[in-house]
Amino acid sequence: MASLWVLMALAASLSSSVRCVQIYSLDGQWEAYETNVGYKFEANVPGGAYTDLMNVGIIQDVFFGYNDNSSRWVGYNNWSYTKIFDVTSAQLGHNQVNLVFEGLDTFAEIIVNDVSVGTASNMFVRHIFDVREVLQAGTNNITVFFENPVEVGQRLYNEQVQQYRIPPECPDEAYRGECHVNMLRKMQASFSWDWGPAFPSVGIWKSVYLELYDLSAIRYVLTDVVEKDENTWSLKINTYFAGNDENIVRGTLNYSLTVEDGTIAESTLFAAKADQYGEITFDMTSLDVPKDKVKLWWPNEYGSQPLYELVVRYGSVQEDTVDEKRVKIGFRTVELVQDDLDNGATFYLKVNGVPIFAKGSNEIPINILPELGQDKKTIRNLMESSRDVHMNMLRVWGGGVYESDYFYEVADELGIMIWQDFMFACALYPVGEDYLESVKAEVNHNVKRIYSHPSIVVYSGNNENEGALVDSWYNTNDNYDLYKRDYVKLYIDTIKTEFDRITDGRGIFVSSSPSNGKETETEGWVSKTPGSSIYGDVHYYNYVLDPWSSTTYPVPRFCSEYGYQSLPFEATWRTATNDSADLDINSAFMDYRQHHPQGNDQMQDLILQKLNIPSKDSQFYTSAFIYLSQVLYSQAIRVETEHYRRYRSYLNDAGEGYTMGALYWQLNDVWVAPTWSSIDYTGRWKMLHYLARDMFSPIIVTAHIGYNRNLQLYTVNDELESVQATLVSKVFKYDSADFKPISETRTDLTLNAAASQLIEEFNIDDHLTSLNCGDQGSADQNCFYHFVLEKDGDVFSPQNYLFPGKLKDSNLPLSTVKATSISEAGTNTFDIVISSDNIAIFVWLDVDQIQGRFSHNGFLLVESSKTVSFSSEQSITLQELQEALTVTHLKDPRWL
Ligand SMILES: *[C@@H]1O[C@H](CO)[C@@H](O)[C@H](O)[C@H]1NC(C)=O
Ligand SMILES: *[C@@H]1O[C@H](CO)[C@@H](O)[C@H](O)[C@H]1NC(C)=O
Ligand SMILES: *[C@@H]1O[C@H](CO)[C@@H](O)[C@H](O)[C@H]1NC(C)=O
Ligand SMILES: *[C@@H]1O[C@H](CO)[C@@H](O)[C@H](O)[C@H]1NC(C)=O
Ligand SMILES: *[C@@H]1O[C@H](CO)[C@@H](O)[C@H](O)[C@H]1NC(C)=O
Repeated sequence: MASLWVLMALAASLSSSVRCVQIYSLDGQWEAYETNVGYKFEANVPGGAYTDLMNVGIIQDVFFGYNDNSSRWVGYNNWSYTKIFDVTSAQLGHNQVNLVFEGLDTFAEIIVNDVSVGTASNMFVRHIFDVREVLQAGTNNITVFFENPVEVGQRLYNEQVQQYRIPPECPDEAYRGECHVNMLRKMQASFSWDWGPAFPSVGIWKSVYLELYDLSAIRYVLTDVVEKDENTWSLKINTYFAGNDENIVRGTLNYSLTVEDGTIAESTLFAAKADQYGEITFDMTSLDVPKDKVKLWWPNEYGSQPLYELVVRYGSVQEDTVDEKRVKIGFRTVELVQDDLDNGATFYLKVNGVPIFAKGSNEIPINILPELGQDKKTIRNLMESSRDVHMNMLRVWGGGVYESDYFYEVADELGIMIWQDFMFACALYPVGEDYLESVKAEVNHNVKRIYSHPSIVVYSGNNENEGALVDSWYNTNDNYDLYKRDYVKLYIDTIKTEFDRITDGRGIFVSSSPSNGKETETEGWVSKTPGSSIYGDVHYYNYVLDPWSSTTYPVPRFCSEYGYQSLPFEATWRTATNDSADLDINSAFMDYRQHHPQGNDQMQDLILQKLNIPSKDSQFYTSAFIYLSQVLYSQAIRVETEHYRRYRSYLNDAGEGYTMGALYWQLNDVWVAPTWSSIDYTGRWKMLHYLARDMFSPIIVTAHIGYNRNLQLYTVNDELESVQATLVSKVFKYDSADFKPISETRTDLTLNAAASQLIEEFNIDDHLTSLNCGDQGSADQNCFYHFVLEKDGDVFSPQNYLFPGKLKDSNLPLSTVKATSISEAGTNTFDIVISSDNIAIFVWLDVDQIQGRFSHNGFLLVESSKTVSFSSEQSITLQELQEALTVTHLKDPRWL
């Protein structure tokens, strides 16, 4: 296509002085008003009605107390945003004058100088309005009128239901949410979820600006790294241009890639005209990059994450620069491997030819108010916290938003692979023509925006919608064929088709999470058994069976969601209430924040299966409940995660196994509440996050009790080289006052590269009786196992342990555990010596409102003292730390 137009381009000598693309920001101060009560106030863009109203004090902090409820009216009203600004005649002298909104949430009409220039109905797309004819030299104004999304949802549903219903109509009552969010192309969680409040937000949630140009502008640069041959990368570069009057763009394109010892540059004359999709794109087939000029990009802990800057410069025929875009390139290959097995198929990622066990979690929106979801500090803290506990993958869950550029930049930088859902979750969705057009635009914009990030390795059509359909969550079976047709129309015919077109068929796409991968496709995109363990990925939740037994859990190829709820710590609760009566698990407030149906009962029943809860009359009842909920869920997720890791190299008799992924639910929070998170809303690590560092450690020793009370001891080595190690297995009596094990064995092992290995197996009760732990009936209550791996005499694995019987019936004595010394080890870093008079289990250090991280927490103390270090985020004195520090453990004498 290019060459013909090149000639035309050369023939046409346009203006002699070409101006480059200019951007005039319209961010900052706007004026907002509400049409019913008549509130009028200063607003900030990017922003949103809730944030603006908080800033001017019309509503209180919506994350505090019941303020989400008392500010719900915000989402029931219409809001207008106005800005008055000046434009010069020189600015209007450009051929093209556009008003660009990077994001509008959600139903809006845009009026410039009393002229309606367009409407919006999808918060995930960028809107570009041609305003050249509407603007005038001098003073101008823009008004964005937002219609409240709750009313729109209802209206769209009323229209839809004339034909047939698209469920669910409303969320479960326990969510305290709003209805019909599935009718809207808006963050699905903004009408509530089982871990979050309803904020039916409106606003200009991303930047807005005027864009001026004469010839064209670069809209997107989409790159892809493909292996050309043994020695060469082919860097595919697609440059997408903005339209102009002729819908033809010509000029020069210069590419320059900074590599290890210089730059690789190419220059080309080009011309492109709008194609059948209305896109003006120039596909340079590729920039050849010798492999020895760049280093590979690796997931966290497999290598480094070098990024090379590509500059794409677009110039006029006279070669004056018109526009420029910069993209950070990571050189890596990714495959989703689905090789046939006797029963089913594998499902795992290979990066640079290396099979990767995906370890990580699921990310829910950075903030439930979308305008606050781009906060760099929060994003960095979550990403670094993920890296620091050996995670290599996060799934961006389909009920939130396509995250900010910064989010993916940090993922690139830290080697956190991203599983990216498209934004559809736990519902059926409309398939009207307008709706599908809108979805197509959403896919188009976001894929072009984010695809070049090396961290993003898989795209998934939706969250759990295949399961919702097949298992008739919303009573749709009567009309199954219709809903199945709709399902295929949306996720395959629309989303996958557009995705494949943009990525030239190279992008990795699965139709849903969970799905059966290629088997789903074979079955016509809706599988009879979407939860199958022998194909694709699985989500698994169970709040009834023994949470600490591996036999509770499935043996999938890849577990992309699993989890349990817990309560955040009191210091965190106190950021959401000032009323001490609220800090009671049975208070109306804590109940109000529990959005999961029967959530507190489930937590209590699970705790009581394994542990004792102090009497309700105890003044420590709630603090103990909080602590116990965190013990319960963190151990459950540790057990489940280690179970998946043990299956890395094994198949069971049913052909299940070769598990290659464990992403627990959920990483973060959007408010202070009982949820599945490992990092709470204040950024504080809950017990699970400390445990995650152990369970995701590249090399672990892990034991479980399989069928017939057999203890199976495994090692798992994710590293790419085999490792020599000494396994140190100890058996302790719970009440061994001298911390001396009653048995200690040392075994030299070779841990195979990238493999799990069964090291030994024996009957636990026979073993314990032979060690004089007691008779067959009581031995498992007197003794427990403790394991580490040593190399050259040094422990190099996390400690691990196995409780052979029920901990609540065990002979664990009351111990006095305390901090016996605290000393300054550096700036805002302290060494804390924890001492005990007996073995102590799940020792938890709490520093109240002080934010920071411990080197260890939630650990077993099998020695009389242990030094733990603490680094504070804020500047604190030794005395402040001393006063804030409390130590708790399973047999805390204060409660019992
Ligand atoms: C929530 O707000 C509604 C309407 O103002 C009110 O009736 C209800 O009592 C509130 N609920 C709580 C828990 O405060
Ligand atoms: C919001 O605007 C729509 C469209 O103009 C109107 O029909 C509706 O009544 C308004 N709602 C409120 C609460 O003002
Ligand atoms: C916006 O501009 C139009 C056209 O000049 C004018 O009629 C209108 O009053 C202006 N509105 C505001 C809020 O300034
Ligand atoms: C492209 O590169 C050529 C050769 O180095 C240079 O003359 C020209 O100015 C460049 N054009 C742009 C738009 O950067
Ligand atoms: C809660 O108490 C703190 C400290 O006394 C105070 O600064 C804050 O304003 C209070 N918040 C509310 C919403 O009452």
